[in-house]
Amino acid sequence: MSLASRLLADLPLVTRTERVGALAIELECIEDFEAAVTVFTDRVLGERLSEAVFEDLCPMFGAMWPAARALAERVAATPLDGVPVLELGCGLALPSLAAAARGAAVTATDQHPATEALLARNLARNGLDVHFARFDWRGQAPFADRSFAVVMASDVLYTATMGPLVLDTVDRFLAYGGVAWIADPGRAWLEDFAAMAVARGFAVDMDVLGPEDGAFVLTLRRMAGAVLPP
Ligand SMILES: C[S@@+](CC[C@H](N)C(=O)[O-])C[C@H]1O[C@@H](n2cnc3c(N)ncnc32)[C@H](O)[C@@H]1O
Repeated sequence: MSLASRLLADLPLVTRTERVGALAIELECIEDFEAAVTVFTDRVLGERLSEAVFEDLCPMFGAMWPAARALAERVAATPLDGVPVLELGCGLALPSLAAAARGAAVTATDQHPATEALLARNLARNGLDVHFARFDWRGQAPFADRSFAVVMASDVLYTATMGPLVLDTVDRFLAYGGVAWIADPGRAWLEDFAAMAVARGFAVDMDVLGPEDGAFVLTLRRMAGAVLPP
């Protein structure tokens, strides 16, 4: 059995419906994250447990993080027909599914080896089309020559090292005139990320979205101005 299959096989998954604007998206996902982490450390990691391995392989990709809902709401409210969209650290990829439902040409990416298999099941469940590419911001991108009108990510600023990597990746793949949306539940590194983006020459706006699972959504534009509505 491959590592990806082993990582997915024993996870406690449920299916639920996420309502995003006028969309209803069914997702197979982890409901009890602590139980999933226990399964992962007991049955999958075993003696290979180290902090680095834990961070890379732990099943965060399969849980529904609140910032993803806020980002998906932003996506669902934006006309995206034919627009090239890149999601970073997508996990369950609710924003990518919402973008695909709005007609975007979506590439969803994540470093976790089991993301693709769960995403494939969720795309089939919803009759949607999203291209997946395994992409770790610490390494080579699998689509070096492309740029995207929208680059987006949710809840990817939870360690000190992630902000600079995410910003470098946005800077590299955001098309001239494009817009980046970064949603975050308000983690400690959010303000540093916004300050770094300003220092890099982006115009940065911050909104708070979602009455229940409130999250911050940063909008980054290159100073030349955006081609998409806010
Ligand atoms: C907290 S989860 C958020 C998942 C999803 N964006 C959401 O909001 O529901 C963080 C995600 O970032 C991914 N990730 C972390 N470090 C990464 C890296 N260096 N390159 C690509 N993805 C990464 C993880 O695999 C995980 O899926």
